[in-house]
Amino acid sequence: MAAELFDYEPVFAQLTDEGHCEWVQQLQAACDVALAPEVHGNLDKWTAAWHLLPDVPDATLDACERFQLLGSLADDQRAVLRETLMQLHPWRKGPFHVFGIHIDTEWRSDWKWDRLKDHVELRNRLVLDVGCGNGYYGWRMLAAGASQVVGLDPFLLYVMQHEAIKRYAGARADNYVLPLGDDCLPKNLHAFDVTFSMGVLYHRSSPIDHLQTLAGTLKKDGQLVLETLIVEGDCNSVLVPEGRYAKMRNVWFIPSIDMLQLWLRRVGLKDIRVVDVTATSVQEQRSTDWMTFESLPDFLDPNDRSKTVEGYPAPLRAVVTARR
Ligand SMILES: C[S@@+](CC[C@H](N)C(=O)[O-])C[C@H]1O[C@@H](n2cnc3c(N)ncnc32)[C@H](O)[C@@H]1O
Repeated sequence: MAAELFDYEPVFAQLTDEGHCEWVQQLQAACDVALAPEVHGNLDKWTAAWHLLPDVPDATLDACERFQLLGSLADDQRAVLRETLMQLHPWRKGPFHVFGIHIDTEWRSDWKWDRLKDHVELRNRLVLDVGCGNGYYGWRMLAAGASQVVGLDPFLLYVMQHEAIKRYAGARADNYVLPLGDDCLPKNLHAFDVTFSMGVLYHRSSPIDHLQTLAGTLKKDGQLVLETLIVEGDCNSVLVPEGRYAKMRNVWFIPSIDMLQLWLRRVGLKDIRVVDVTATSVQEQRSTDWMTFESLPDFLDPNDRSKTVEGYPAPLRAVVTARR
């Protein structure tokens, strides 16, 4: 079957089957609005690039140990592919190994995956990934047995990166990135077995609303996997940066691990487990050929790497799981 751009029908069919007809109608309308040509000045250019991607009829995907697409591609076609994928710069989440091209992304997202994968049961689970970026983790989730992964990300470049990768992963590969944010999630949806929110909480100005929404996406006993920045401190500690944090403008609340657990209890979640706490290293987040802008080494105080350039504690991240 020929690959098609923005083919969300299998998601809508699955959710309709599960009785979420009204929400599906809302999602369809919201996707149409988000993907209207006038909404983003580069969408036409990216769509044209997608149509230039060379065919690889024998492409196969293996995302068990790492993400790799295997298949036969002549050298000149590989050069076209590389050039076309580069038009979707910056590539932040990955890495992707695509027919001999190593998309060395800003983040070693595979390291985060390795830290959390043994703490979530994905076999035959319907998964929601809020703020999924280019859908990298969705491929790893499918390889771990998920039945379908519904990713949400409002940033259209990442949606396009996903479409470029999906072009080769098979039209019916059940990993989707809808061009939407968490505001498309109604309260008390109870639609998913597992919900991920990684790297999103601190970008939300109302973090408890975000957690409440996430909790509401889960079926009974469904599992939440939450990954976020944290600070050292007790259950009364939260960092609200005065301005930027690590040069990021949109960071609102960075809680201590105790405060985060309190927030999770307050939204009614149970069985809360802190499964990982790791300081982000300059090996895990850095500039590369595929993300040539500034990265973590530029966000840290050059004289004291335990601090950001603004003088705040350097990035420390936790993965917490919980059940509804
Ligand atoms: C720091 S990245 C994390 C990406 C990925 N989840 C990971 O852990 O590597 C945050 C992502 O959240 C997306 N995002 C920002 N606001 C959002 C919102 N309101 N709802 C869902 N995603 C959002 C951004 O576009 C970005 O891709």
